[in-house]
Amino acid sequence: MARITAGVATSHVPLLGVGIDQGKMEDEYFKPIYAGYEWSKRWIAEPENKPDVVILVYNDHATAFDMNLIPTFAIGCADEFQPADEGWGRRPVPVVKNDADFAWHLAQSLILDEFDMTIINKMDVDHGLTVPLSLMFGQPAEWPVKVVPLAVNVVTYPPPSGNRCYALGEAIRNAVESYDKDLNVQVWGTGGMSHQLQGPRAGLINKEWDQRFLDDLTADPLRLRHIPHIEYLRETGSEGIETVMWLIMRGALGKDVKELHRHYHVPASNTAVGHIVLEAAR
Ligand SMILES: [Fe+2]
Repeated sequence: MARITAGVATSHVPLLGVGIDQGKMEDEYFKPIYAGYEWSKRWIAEPENKPDVVILVYNDHATAFDMNLIPTFAIGCADEFQPADEGWGRRPVPVVKNDADFAWHLAQSLILDEFDMTIINKMDVDHGLTVPLSLMFGQPAEWPVKVVPLAVNVVTYPPPSGNRCYALGEAIRNAVESYDKDLNVQVWGTGGMSHQLQGPRAGLINKEWDQRFLDDLTADPLRLRHIPHIEYLRETGSEGIETVMWLIMRGALGKDVKELHRHYHVPASNTAVGHIVLEAAR
């Protein structure tokens, strides 16, 4: 039986992909940011921790989707996905390989469980998906895991509620546990934490709010399920709503989780970087 063993959450700041691609990891500015991922890179490389498949929850940034098409929840079911050209050419990272049989199983299970997923058979994946892979795996010739892309609309109002995201995570857990191949599966939540990219409050960062969110992923996930959108907007800036995607990861891990590692750094670009590794309930 497939099982979810752990969850990883991380911001997916585009600059952190650029820093890796351009060999700036030892630069004074970048060093403390990447240092917080060293533990995670060692942890995920251990044979007992290394997942076969990552269900990677992220958002597209007007790359594959735009105002013509705005799926709330979408799942990639193709065999592979190319890194997107976001205006500066494709990132020099490997093609993202899916486990398509598993992805189609997830799509079937989630839709029959009344989550109306959009099925995507052709799409390029942007920094939202590739930067977390680079942060966790560095610069391999091939990504060492299969990746099921799970895209969430957090770009155009209205994004899904935190409660709905958490419930989707719970449905993902049921879907994984009904797959009869023996797979080690991780669920990753990406994006966030507090940041605002434009307008009079550009550069807004709210360390206290971010830390409380990180604390309550283990201490009080019920509170996180019910944070309204307006609180994300007021407290974490116009792009802070990306953090709602972490609740899909959290919901997939079951009731009790153990925090294994945490990293928080400001600023990276004009964003707070948050990262956490959680072990799933057995
Ligand atoms: Fe983003």
